[in-house]
Amino acid sequence: MLEPMQGEGGIKPGTREYFALARDLADANGALLICDEVQVGMGRSGSLWGHEQLDVKPDVFTSAKALGGGVPIGAMMAAKSVSDTFGPGDHANTYGGNPLACAAGLAVAEYLSEHDVLSNVRARGEQLAVGLADIAGRYFTVLGETRGWGLLRGMVIKDDAGCTAAELVGDAMKEGLLLVAAGPSVVRFVPPLVVKESEVAEALVRFERAIATRVGTTP
Ligand SMILES: Cc1ncc(COP(=O)(O)O)c(C=O)c1O
Repeated sequence: MLEPMQGEGGIKPGTREYFALARDLADANGALLICDEVQVGMGRSGSLWGHEQLDVKPDVFTSAKALGGGVPIGAMMAAKSVSDTFGPGDHANTYGGNPLACAAGLAVAEYLSEHDVLSNVRARGEQLAVGLADIAGRYFTVLGETRGWGLLRGMVIKDDAGCTAAELVGDAMKEGLLLVAAGPSVVRFVPPLVVKESEVAEALVRFERAIATRVGTTP
């Protein structure tokens, strides 16, 4: 079971080679290849599912978080050869398939089908990546690599930066910018998929201000 791009693990995109080998090994050994799309799925990577970025076909993949647009729901999608092994009642769950959560999931799916959200994810994701790389170039003593797909981006904080990712997240919060750490040394950017160009630009200004305050210079 693999995330196409690791979220909590530090925003680490998988590679086509790695996933192709995992697919081959699973096939050779009669194992299932399962992708965890809870964090990277539902359009966040710029494609509907993260595994599309890697051109691999999992036997099963999971989804949650954005699946219900904030209403708690989780789901598992399976290829026919695999789903046939499950019968009604095999996988009991107190809230499974409840009408409210399913209505929320359906509304999200309809919105994604009827609006070109993915183009926005790709364009705003590129804007964010370029902007973060610029800032990293100016503050190279503190900031390292910028990585990720679409609107799930990570900024690496260097080992000898003198601060942790969590501390920088706190600095950004003082500037009115909500971020979240992904492990001890990566600051994670996960804006809404409908974020506007001006909002990404504003976020970059605020992030740079937070870094500048931390290192004691003027941006
Ligand atoms: C990649 C990934 N998988 C699974 C989970 C857990 O999802 P759930 O809380 O819907 O079980 C998370 C939650 O943070 C996650 O980021």
